[in-house]
Amino acid sequence: MYTVAHLSDVHLPTPPVPGIRALLNKRLLGYLSWQLRRRHNHRPEVLDALQRDLQIQAPDHIAVTGDLTNISLPAEFRQAAKWLAQLGPPERVTVIPGNHDAYIPLPWAESWSHWASYMGSETAEGESIAHTGFEDFPLVRRRGSVAIVGLTSAIPTKIGMASGSLGKRQAALFKDRLGELDKEGLFRIVLIHHPPIAGTTKPRKSLVDGELFHDAIESAGAELVLHGHDHRFELGDLTSPHGPVPVVGVASASAVRGTEKTPASQYHLYDIERTGDGWTMGWRTREFDAISGRFTHLGTTTVSFQRVPPAEQLDPIDLI
Ligand SMILES: [Fe+2]
Ligand SMILES: [Fe+2]
Repeated sequence: MYTVAHLSDVHLPTPPVPGIRALLNKRLLGYLSWQLRRRHNHRPEVLDALQRDLQIQAPDHIAVTGDLTNISLPAEFRQAAKWLAQLGPPERVTVIPGNHDAYIPLPWAESWSHWASYMGSETAEGESIAHTGFEDFPLVRRRGSVAIVGLTSAIPTKIGMASGSLGKRQAALFKDRLGELDKEGLFRIVLIHHPPIAGTTKPRKSLVDGELFHDAIESAGAELVLHGHDHRFELGDLTSPHGPVPVVGVASASAVRGTEKTPASQYHLYDIERTGDGWTMGWRTREFDAISGRFTHLGTTTVSFQRVPPAEQLDPIDLI
């Protein structure tokens, strides 16, 4: 069995701003939003409890689907790198960026480069491929019978917008990688920050080229899609040649209290096991309890995947 933890939207506390010049752009409104509202909900004590709980649960791998920062200050990227190091070594932790990590256009060296070791890939032969720029997506990591495919949907947008895009180039590579991993018979987990199903979120927060994502899944398939962005649990599915693909959004991992729209901090644990021709996945939810100051078990769902081979992959004798 292989266990993957999925957490998202940690929105680590924004450090002191180095000067007013850093805020003379979209960051000003984001900074005010953080100071007036968001910092009261995304709390360090929840993050501490999260780290403790992850140490106890000891998943084999941790996937973080973006929005580690708030306004993409260089100091926020450095702080997030230290936080990632507390989660575990790069071999055990994968990160992809969210829209808050591309709040304004920034040089690679002042932004995602600090997380590069958590975004590295490997070839099928196990050779490491360093992540050296914004274009180096999708990332592909193979861990036993599990493959992690990480995408970026994070792009700088205008004030008031939080939309995302994959772009044609990345989407084409994504489809190719899914096809290759399918031939290897791996359980493919796709990471994306924005919800990939149309209508899940408001248009100003949506994935503008979601049809490219759908096309890749419909033609090459995947076993599980994980996303963040909406700070709440969301569940949907997409069709693939092997059957339905669960698409699961997780709440923010640092929110201290629940509201009508968004729950308190949650994260998910996926226990993946190969069974016969398919897979079984036990999916556990852990939630922050403000009274005890600890994460507690909220529930378990079990999903079975019966692998349906596409017609062209069937041995001719099976078709008689
Ligand atoms: Fe977020
Ligand atoms: Fe987001």
